[in-house]
Amino acid sequence: MNTIIDDNTTDMAMEETLISPRFYTTNYKELDKVDISSIRHEWDQLIEEMRSDPNKTHFKKTSAWDDFDFEDLEPGLRKEFIDFLVSSLTSEFSGCVLYKEMKRQGTNVDICELFAMMARDEARHAGFINDALREANIAVNLGFLTRKKKYTYFAPKFIYYATYLSEKIGYARYITIYRHLEKNPDARFHPIFKWFEKWCNDEFRHGEAFALLMRSDPKLTAGINVYWIKFFLVAVYATMYVRDHARPEFHKALGVDIDWYDDRVLRMTTEISRQVFPIEIDHDNPKWMIGLKRVKKAMLAYGTAKQSKSFLGALKRPFAALNLGLAFVRLYAIPAKKNAVPETSRLQPSY
Ligand SMILES: [Fe+2]
Ligand SMILES: [Fe+2]
Repeated sequence: MNTIIDDNTTDMAMEETLISPRFYTTNYKELDKVDISSIRHEWDQLIEEMRSDPNKTHFKKTSAWDDFDFEDLEPGLRKEFIDFLVSSLTSEFSGCVLYKEMKRQGTNVDICELFAMMARDEARHAGFINDALREANIAVNLGFLTRKKKYTYFAPKFIYYATYLSEKIGYARYITIYRHLEKNPDARFHPIFKWFEKWCNDEFRHGEAFALLMRSDPKLTAGINVYWIKFFLVAVYATMYVRDHARPEFHKALGVDIDWYDDRVLRMTTEISRQVFPIEIDHDNPKWMIGLKRVKKAMLAYGTAKQSKSFLGALKRPFAALNLGLAFVRLYAIPAKKNAVPETSRLQPSY
């Protein structure tokens, strides 16, 4: 079987929409100055665990990888499943690129070792998804992506907030799907889901590392930064909600109700994030769900207006953008709950 580095699939990974995964760059010099002495004890434990590399041999196809033919999927499901794989791969690879660059540019021994090990894990994750895509005779051209995809600049503290959340959400997503399919093996329509249990432990550890980085400097989770934390909580949660709701066939095939799934994943992430964030989203406030739905509607309308080539479409664009901004502000304005952060932050995956 010949694998084509498929242009369409690479295009999907290149896509720049509000909800598509991005590539990041940061101020590596500033990151290099991080002093972890105040959390050294917890840091060493985590690094030790990562050095032991528990998933070293995990990302290989074994006999558990059942025969699978993409052609057997209904076209709607096939499209959404490929979209899921490409979007996951882009996120995994985005982590790999960012972490590897830090390792390359830094001189701080602690930071460089951590980032090298996280890059190692993300490269495996991305490679494994590409292996799965190859069975559909497609793969994403990772070299091309590294060179050509747009990079978004974030100061280190914003990288911490955004990446911490995406690592922990990644964990929560993978473990929720895995546990659901353990109970409903008939819905496991692709072998890759069997790999999610150990896989998500890597993401959990990466999240732990960012929690420690934030704890290394108390200023990062106090004062004005609390407003930034809330901004990232709302933005990351809303993005996931919109992205998942764009894949109805995929969730139907898994036998998962998207609203149940998102609520569970986001609550789990909130519960975990109590290890470091002084505030949390109030999932029980009825306005939260109403606000999420409003953002979803506004984002879809904005996407349609942006794609439209007609004059009317162009006219609608600024209004759609304004409407989306307002929907986001209203979601942001819902009061967050306060959280007393514990003395030590280390957690073990327990879901
Ligand atoms: Fe990953
Ligand atoms: Fe990760």
